[in-house]
Amino acid sequence: MSFQPPAYPYERLDGLKATASTFEGGAIDCSIGTPIDPPPDFVIEELARGVGAREYPPSAGTADFRDAAAGWINRRFGLTVAPGDLAACVGTKEFVASLAGYLHLRSPERDTVLYPAVSYPTYAMGATLAGLRAVPVALVNGQLDVSSIDPRDAERALVLWANSPANPSGFLDDLEGVALWGRTNDVLIASDECYCEFTWTSPARTILEHGDDGVLAVHSISKRSNLAGFRAGFYAGDREIVKYLRSVRQHAGLMVPGPIQAAAALAYNDDEHVVVQRSRYLSRLEFLSHALKALEVDAPMPEGAFYLWCSKEGLDGWELAALLAERSGLVVSPGELYGDSARDYVRIAVVQPDERLELAAARLEAS
Ligand SMILES: Cc1ncc(COP(=O)(O)O)c(C=O)c1O
Repeated sequence: MSFQPPAYPYERLDGLKATASTFEGGAIDCSIGTPIDPPPDFVIEELARGVGAREYPPSAGTADFRDAAAGWINRRFGLTVAPGDLAACVGTKEFVASLAGYLHLRSPERDTVLYPAVSYPTYAMGATLAGLRAVPVALVNGQLDVSSIDPRDAERALVLWANSPANPSGFLDDLEGVALWGRTNDVLIASDECYCEFTWTSPARTILEHGDDGVLAVHSISKRSNLAGFRAGFYAGDREIVKYLRSVRQHAGLMVPGPIQAAAALAYNDDEHVVVQRSRYLSRLEFLSHALKALEVDAPMPEGAFYLWCSKEGLDGWELAALLAERSGLVVSPGELYGDSARDYVRIAVVQPDERLELAAARLEAS
């Protein structure tokens, strides 16, 4: 059977956008988790210098980029990662989508990707793109229920994805328990930690705190530094796997452009701009969580990330999204985009300026 790519999730929101844009003042789009706040000036100035534009950049990352990434891990988590044990990726979506295929080349006897039943769709897409099986793992209170994994699926698994804080729900996972399950069952754990700078109930966490063997931590500059347009991130962890991936990815020609690496290194060397961003997201989450009470929407503060994971009694996610578009001009993502078991939820990304969220709140109040 030939492969037909499904509709891109956000293309399914056109109807909601049309409804929301009938408001004077327009739609307030909180559907896609794309940063809207400015990246640091000094990073953009460095980009403009064009360092490394002439030559092909190292696929695994320049020494400056890898030192900066390792330095950030050290400051943030108190861990020492040798710069040789981490490598660049061209934004983490690319890495998430391609990992399973590369792992399968290495272990052709395995054919399964395990991923959280409610999650970022690219974990499952990575399996599909490589012609592999994608098997969802149930969540209990937002955490992977590893005890529910069928041993026959574990035997066939190339990787289990974890994501903490989680997109879309904001829950934090028990990364120690997940790492232990992976080692016990001989399954690589890939821990997508792109929201780790944004935790609201406890400090930032990485799976690397529980050892490197059999795990990869995947980090993105997109959310941390409002640099989604850079397409840069890195992965670190199990020495053998990192070595293998560095090599196969070099053969595939995957390279973060040199000027981006130079500028991203400066971003990783600085923490102050992240402190500012964290407080922006926290105050927007608190503001909107409160404002949604006007419509009796349950929008609890998340444990991390910058999404409200909301529900309203009697409505499914598409119905709630339609109601929000009608009453406030908010465009939000129905939970179904993240998994069948999330049908009754919507995800609201607080990626609009404060005044736009205030406008949404005023509309909700008036509705
Ligand atoms: C859970 C998760 N992982 C990975 C990504 C990809 O981020 P990027 O490709 O910008 O590094 C996203 C983007 O929204 C995400 O939500």
